[in-house]
Amino acid sequence: MPGMFDFAPASTADKATLYDDLVLAAGAVTEGEPDTVANMANVAALIWQFLPDLNWAGFYRMVGDELVLGPFQGKPACIRIPLGRGVCGAAAQMRETQLVEDVHAFPGHIACDDASASEIVVPILHDGRLIGVLDLDSPRPARFDQQDRIGLERLIARIAGALG
Ligand code: SME
Repeated sequence: MPGMFDFAPASTADKATLYDDLVLAAGAVTEGEPDTVANMANVAALIWQFLPDLNWAGFYRMVGDELVLGPFQGKPACIRIPLGRGVCGAAAQMRETQLVEDVHAFPGHIACDDASASEIVVPILHDGRLIGVLDLDSPRPARFDQQDRIGLERLIARIAGALG
């Protein structure tokens, strides 16, 4: 019998279908659960399972006036990021998704894992409040495109209420 959270992407899925499935699965695992850390942990696990070519996927939470590491998949990462620093700090400060094709060309990029070549960071807003950011890293240059931005922003819009 499959487990209660046995979600899996169809192996032939194109990007749009992959994000449709991911948004559905993330909605299902967070539905009715008030614990934001548990929800971030499950969503990081789903992203890791569904999206190919990632070396890091997870959350930084706004705590006081800085970003603090939250649930993630990948190697241990830097713990505190001031607003405006790195790709995460830029996304949080501008409240706008940062899509970086080449992290080495991004001024102030914070290298947590040397394998990272490209990155996308989506701010998480709920009721006008900045809750934190979702950060995805890839070892492949220009791994993320507009379809990923739209898909991830849709994911965050769907579950922001369960994250903070
Ligand atoms: N590269 C990020 C830091 C977080 S790690 O990638 C997990 C940045 O520049 O903000």
